[in-house]
Amino acid sequence: MRIGVYPGSFDPITNGHMDIIRRASLLVDHLIVGVLNNSQKNPTLSVEERVDLINELTKDLGNVTANHFSGLLVEFVNNMQANVIIRGFRAISDFEYEMQLAQTNYMLDPEIETVFLVARNEFSYISSTMVKEVAKYHGDISKMVPQKTQKILEEKFK
Ligand code: PNS
Repeated sequence: MRIGVYPGSFDPITNGHMDIIRRASLLVDHLIVGVLNNSQKNPTLSVEERVDLINELTKDLGNVTANHFSGLLVEFVNNMQANVIIRGFRAISDFEYEMQLAQTNYMLDPEIETVFLVARNEFSYISSTMVKEVAKYHGDISKMVPQKTQKILEEKFK
């Protein structure tokens, strides 16, 4: 059984993330969306809110579940008995960071492969940071995030 982990902060989940989840779910038997619980960051959505939202948004896919994790990603991947990490790649500006992440994870556990899915053009400039910035000033984020995400952000920045 091929189990994949798609890790990230997902604060909040965007249409770009959703596209990667949909496409990744076709490549593995089970996809686990790993939501980082980083106590040093001050997230807009709590880790529980992020996990619940992703579970809600992906329930139709059938083979996707969201879980939170803290600590090392490779440990989470092993605990989940997964064998592959999936990351989305938007633009050349992602390159250095993604290489560092993949190489570090490879050094920590060479048995875990990292696979990159290239973001579709229409999603390549969406980021959670930009979405929050626009939402903070009550701009229109309807083309960037699922409706449920939009509702939660509108509530947060009311
Ligand atoms: O969506 P993001 O914030 O770019 O995701 C980053 C994430 C969660 C994949 C990365 O920060 C991570 O894996 N953190 C867990 C700690 C870890 O394993 N670090 C070592 C690899 S650099």
